[in-house]
Amino acid sequence: MNTLLSQAFDPETFRKEGYQLVDLLTNYLQDCRAGATMPVLPPSTPDEMLAFWENDLKQGDFNLQQFYQTLILQSNHIHHPNYMGHQVVPPAPLSALTELLEALLNNGMAIYEMGPASTAIEKVVLRWLSEHIGFPDEAEGILTSGGSAGNLTGLLAARQAMCGFNVWDEGNNGDHPFALMVSEEAHYSVSRAARIMGWGEKGVVKVPVNENMQLDASKLEETLLNATANGLQVIAIVGNACSTSTGTYDPLDKMADFAQKHGLWFHVDGAHGGAAAMTAKYAHLTRGMDRADSVVIDFHKMMLAPALTTAVLFRNGKHSYATFAQKAEYLLGDGKQKPWYDSAARALECTKKMLGVKVYAMIKLYGDDLFRDYIINAYDLGQSFAELIDAQPDFELAVKPDGNIVCFRYCPENHNGDLNVLNAAIRNKSLKDARFYIVQTMVNGKVYLRVSLMNPFTTMTELNALITAIREDFA
Ligand SMILES: Cc1ncc(COP(=O)(O)O)c(C=O)c1O
Repeated sequence: MNTLLSQAFDPETFRKEGYQLVDLLTNYLQDCRAGATMPVLPPSTPDEMLAFWENDLKQGDFNLQQFYQTLILQSNHIHHPNYMGHQVVPPAPLSALTELLEALLNNGMAIYEMGPASTAIEKVVLRWLSEHIGFPDEAEGILTSGGSAGNLTGLLAARQAMCGFNVWDEGNNGDHPFALMVSEEAHYSVSRAARIMGWGEKGVVKVPVNENMQLDASKLEETLLNATANGLQVIAIVGNACSTSTGTYDPLDKMADFAQKHGLWFHVDGAHGGAAAMTAKYAHLTRGMDRADSVVIDFHKMMLAPALTTAVLFRNGKHSYATFAQKAEYLLGDGKQKPWYDSAARALECTKKMLGVKVYAMIKLYGDDLFRDYIINAYDLGQSFAELIDAQPDFELAVKPDGNIVCFRYCPENHNGDLNVLNAAIRNKSLKDARFYIVQTMVNGKVYLRVSLMNPFTTMTELNALITAIREDFA
């Protein structure tokens, strides 16, 4: 073997570099935990960052550990207690270690023999989750790479099950302008899925929301009537559990009633908040989700796993076999036989990562309570932060939050300028000085600051410090 190849595959080099990397990451986790003095993300602009790495590639000498160190410094620190931005979880370190194992084994699934253990583990993990959300024994599902792919998978199954002909083979035709109903607050992946299916903009019928940004169930009948009068064939309704922007849950129980009454497919996008069904304290938010035909839940949001791992669960498992009907002789035969263990027949991906393994490891080592404790802690913190904001005369909430996503804005009494401009400036400053990572959103045409409290090491101390920092900089 040539020297480069033998070097690249040398087990002893792997051992040495591996130990050093684990040491580096251990120190990193400790630094993150200590928080305060370390910026939460690098202040560089995209162009500056690009210039740095373009230049770096041209440099001659390379030190692997230095590279790792630089990469860490130039990344967003999700484990930092002042990380309060988007809905990405700080992965439990065990799940990252397990992912290293997955990467090296590289069993690409697709068919059973390309991932024997991971194929079985995927099914075990899906069954475990399915029981936790109250699905019956015949439920089945598939793990896929992210909530966007998950929503597409669920909605493709909805189309195939509800459209009345074999749309997979025959394709859409003008006689059937299919549509789904969903609140105005749905994640964009839902409307993207409709467009991918060829339904266009009109294929997404928006149901108005109430003052808490939850789908207004009293508008369902009228919305369906109007859509039908406009020539649309509504075949599905999608519930948010919870919405991305404000984190509030749609009235899933009422939506399930509505779907049942009108013979519609009920899909729940529980990418962020579906896992709350596991907790006694917050399960009420997901009431009705157990009546959905399909549910999406991201393990990389509220289930402590690194990105990306998403469960798509079908209450009636047979629908998981109807989503895709492709032939691939070399891999799946004529597509007619679909055993549970050849994941490519039921997933968007052909090769896919060993998605269930890290989740399985967490379940085995820590038990179900790890997930419950994490969710309850994060949702409780969201409630406490909302109470804190509510008690401040110069801050206001966008809506009362259901969980760990809180939208608020600074509105000092003496401010005569535009509050949208002020709050956008606060968000921009937070990016530049990198003390807190927060994001912004629009609610009813107004700019709000938005935090997703994903880090179990974020406490009211950091949230009080955020309020103080905003006042100091912008009062
Ligand atoms: C409600 C909801 N659905 C779907 C998605 C998309 O998930 P992913 O980023 O895993 O593709 C998100 C992401 O934030 C989300 O909040």
